[in-house]
Amino acid sequence: MDHVPVLVKEVIHNLDPAPGDIVLDATVGGGGHSEEILRRILPGGRLIAVDRDGEALERARRRLKGFSPSVTYVNGDFRNIDGIFDSLGIDGIDRALFDLGMSSFQVDDERRGFSFSGRGPLDMRFDLRQQLSAAEIVNKFSQALLADIIKSFGEERYAALVAKKICAARKKKRIETTSELRAIIIDAIGRKYRGQRLHPAARTFQALRIYTNDELAAAGEGVSKAVDHLRPKGRICVISFHSLEDRIVKNIFRDMAKGRGLGILTRKPITPGMEEIRNNPRARSAKLRVSEKL
Ligand SMILES: C[S@@+](CC[C@H](N)C(=O)[O-])C[C@H]1O[C@@H](n2cnc3c(N)ncnc32)[C@H](O)[C@@H]1O
Repeated sequence: MDHVPVLVKEVIHNLDPAPGDIVLDATVGGGGHSEEILRRILPGGRLIAVDRDGEALERARRRLKGFSPSVTYVNGDFRNIDGIFDSLGIDGIDRALFDLGMSSFQVDDERRGFSFSGRGPLDMRFDLRQQLSAAEIVNKFSQALLADIIKSFGEERYAALVAKKICAARKKKRIETTSELRAIIIDAIGRKYRGQRLHPAARTFQALRIYTNDELAAAGEGVSKAVDHLRPKGRICVISFHSLEDRIVKNIFRDMAKGRGLGILTRKPITPGMEEIRNNPRARSAKLRVSEKL
């Protein structure tokens, strides 16, 4: 399935890209936001399109084919933005967008192991060149560390019980697939989630994905480095999809507003309207924060 970009109108309105701008799309994904940005920065503009996932980058490349001389693709981690800009000879940007988390096509692809409803290998890496996968965490980490990860990054109140059941199950057989893990979690805490809309495995899967990709640290580092590269009047938009991530973005903006000449343009995050949520349920938890370099 194609990825439907969230809060597009709001991003474009707040990012306010103009002809000639140099723009960083730190999470180009399927290229939906980038396409709208490119329409507004030409002639003369340039888009730096970064993604940690080589397959996502290929999708973006196909979608943005018509704009190719104005786009530079980088298969890399946005936390390395300093090195990326150095190697491209870029010394300042006008606009930056971070649309954190994952794309629908990553979730829908069972081979990637992101989804608790699929049957894929327990992988969850954005970057397939990376060593650490979710299988490694689930099968090798101590029970205490597993419980800590599931509690901290999944906000799962039954984390200790889930970790205990995972460790009991892996003694009998290595846990290889998302469906095996889902069954273990349902067995551990399925009853406690009865009558709730949230799937019992949702929080544990979120925790494993965040830990596998070190997402929170990466978001903090990437966003603050991007702010450092913004030129005066340059703007940054960040979309997050859960409270842990949103808190990090909010705190970075607040700290940088104190010391480094940043103006916060959204005291409260912008959220999607009812119609967008109806058409794209993935948008439900999206929060957009915007700041401007003074
Ligand atoms: C929600 S999607 C972006 C969708 C995109 N805005 C669009 O319109 O199609 C998030 C993307 O960020 C990428 N990503 C996640 N963490 C990253 C990181 N640290 N550095 C670079 N890309 C990352 C994921 O691989 C994924 O493709």
